[in-house]
Amino acid sequence: MNRFDELNNNYQKVHHERLYEHLNGRVKSEASMEEKCTRKHYPLTAHSALREVRDSIGLRVVCNFIDDIYTCIDYIKSWDDVSVYNEKDYITNAKPNGYRSYHMILEITVPDEDVDGNIPGHYFVEVQLRKIAMDTWASLEHEMKYKHQIKNPEMIGKELKRVADELASCDVSMQTIRQ
Ligand code: GTP
Ligand code: MG
Repeated sequence: MNRFDELNNNYQKVHHERLYEHLNGRVKSEASMEEKCTRKHYPLTAHSALREVRDSIGLRVVCNFIDDIYTCIDYIKSWDDVSVYNEKDYITNAKPNGYRSYHMILEITVPDEDVDGNIPGHYFVEVQLRKIAMDTWASLEHEMKYKHQIKNPEMIGKELKRVADELASCDVSMQTIRQ
């Protein structure tokens, strides 16, 4: 998170605008990690939690404009101690439900020993980059999916998809106006 803060501050000094609007981070709770390992049929070990599961540490970078997301990705890829383990561009290829974000699993090298006893060690961080309106959408969609018993899930899903597509269309217009 410090690395991203520093990037945003330096970027702002040069470009007089922020590269991202805000940044969230979380370490997956023990209960949530147990649930995920169990669901994926992994033994409940530190190895499973930190190697098989790769989102024990999660960062979310929320940007004002689409091109800022790709600029941010270029900076991340330029960091020496960070390599990209995998990435999914759900912005170019939206999920069928309308979800749009760019996901990266980063592999970070550190001087300390890691869970497998390697020195230097490495660990994974999941980074999700998305537009601000899509962040609001994803929170609502997540809440609908996991927290509430919905009476008419088909209709709600269709409406969510329609809204996601409208947001994406607005994002393109905003980008054009900015340019
Ligand atoms: P996990 O096993 O949950 O990590 O999913 P995955 O391996 O298929 O990875 P993916 O990159 O598709 O999703 C990782 C994370 O992105 C999820 O844990 C969610 O936080 C978020 N995400 C992915 N798809 C959706 C979606 O349709 N709606 C919302 N609200 N969040 C999503
Ligand atoms: Mg996850």
